[in-house]
Amino acid sequence: MSAQAQVIVGLDIGTTKVCAVVGEVDADGITILGVGNVPCKGLKRGIVSNIDLTVRSIRDAVEAAQQMAGVKIETVYVGIAGSHIRAHMSDGVAAIADREVTRADVERVLEGARAIPIDADRQILHALPREFVVDSQDGILDPIGMSGVRLGVNVNLVTAATTCVQNVVRCAERAGLKVADVVLQPLASAHAVLSEDEKEIGAAVIDIGGGTTDILLYANGGIAHTSSIPIGGNSITSDIATGLHTPMGEADRIKRFYGCALGRLVEESEEIEVPGVGTHPPRRVARHVLTDIIEPRVEEMFAVVRRRIEETGLLEQLSSGAVLTGGSVVLDGMTDFAEEILGMPVRIGYPIGVRGMVALVNAPQYATAIGLVKYGAEQLADANERQANSSPVPSGSRRRAAPEEPKASSSIWDWLKQAW
Ligand SMILES: Nc1ncnc2c1ncn2[C@@H]1O[C@H](COP(=O)(O)OP(=O)(O)OP(=O)(O)O)[C@@H](O)[C@H]1O
Ligand SMILES: [Mg+2]
Repeated sequence: MSAQAQVIVGLDIGTTKVCAVVGEVDADGITILGVGNVPCKGLKRGIVSNIDLTVRSIRDAVEAAQQMAGVKIETVYVGIAGSHIRAHMSDGVAAIADREVTRADVERVLEGARAIPIDADRQILHALPREFVVDSQDGILDPIGMSGVRLGVNVNLVTAATTCVQNVVRCAERAGLKVADVVLQPLASAHAVLSEDEKEIGAAVIDIGGGTTDILLYANGGIAHTSSIPIGGNSITSDIATGLHTPMGEADRIKRFYGCALGRLVEESEEIEVPGVGTHPPRRVARHVLTDIIEPRVEEMFAVVRRRIEETGLLEQLSSGAVLTGGSVVLDGMTDFAEEILGMPVRIGYPIGVRGMVALVNAPQYATAIGLVKYGAEQLADANERQANSSPVPSGSRRRAAPEEPKASSSIWDWLKQAW
């Protein structure tokens, strides 16, 4: 490990699995050192429902990841999702201290935007800037270095039920870990799969996991909407289990091997073998029977997503279309079906901008964990920059604006900006 390299660990606690990804961050970017991925039965629809089962899966995933990476994992960035997540718009305004916007001004105005009354049982996860306003000029994405006297911001304030956040943190702590931050899962997934261009011209990230379908919309260069729908791949599996009279485990296996979201992509003559329940013998059935079960459920999922996007009024602004992540999107025919129902270009989102053991994480179900590592790297770069900017100013010299000061971490920061 080089002198300046730091280890960052993303911990994705999902409805079907816990995934820990170890990344090493240095001036050249993020290198994936290890991955641990184990099944988890401790969550329902993205929310922790059994602490013991969740802790056990976290321990196993972290143990596997640290063995592969050869490093001791102590601190993690952990994801959170579920229908308790809400987003509200909020504005903040602050005077620009030295007539040129610095990071301190930006932090102050964001602090102001966070200071709105929220329910006592909720807490703020993120204040995601949509646009800054310097004096009367609006639509600014990065105001640092601009001249003016008054800085305004419009943010998307993401809040979560405090008990849900506490349960996620408790699980990680009981597994012997410190939590550096709790991050909205679709935000992490977006970090992993979207290019800067896509964010700029507008895109939807749709993460279809086992228990939830999470949506995050980028419009006008910023995050404009986030929400969660309590349907995922497990709904498809249980439809198959009911429709084919087979146990859930077998239904999941059949879905992965033979499943297809669009019946028209399957030949009439194709057959599959379905194991029986209990003492019933296996049967051969037409593959069409399976797609007849899957297609209406997938159609329903994308129809709900489309309605959600329409309700935001942002459909026309998603110029680069939708990017699908999460384990369920590798089902045959998903992108074609999504394009038909959403009426926009759709692609599958594989994690980008990392090196090292990429073959192990090159699948849409790793987007959240990789995105958590990227988010952690961003926090690290931010902290380094803040430290560089707060180094003592020689007495008698005039305090200069942040962008002109030498930055200890500029190489990491520059790389991160390019990579995202
Ligand atoms: N090859 C495949 N074909 C179809 N579905 C698949 C395939 N591989 C995985 N899945 C499905 O993906 C889902 C799990 O995805 P993922 O790992 O993203 O979920 P999760 O993160 O655990 O859950 P969530 O994000 O909803 O809390 C399961 O429903 C699983 O059956
Ligand atoms: Mg997930």
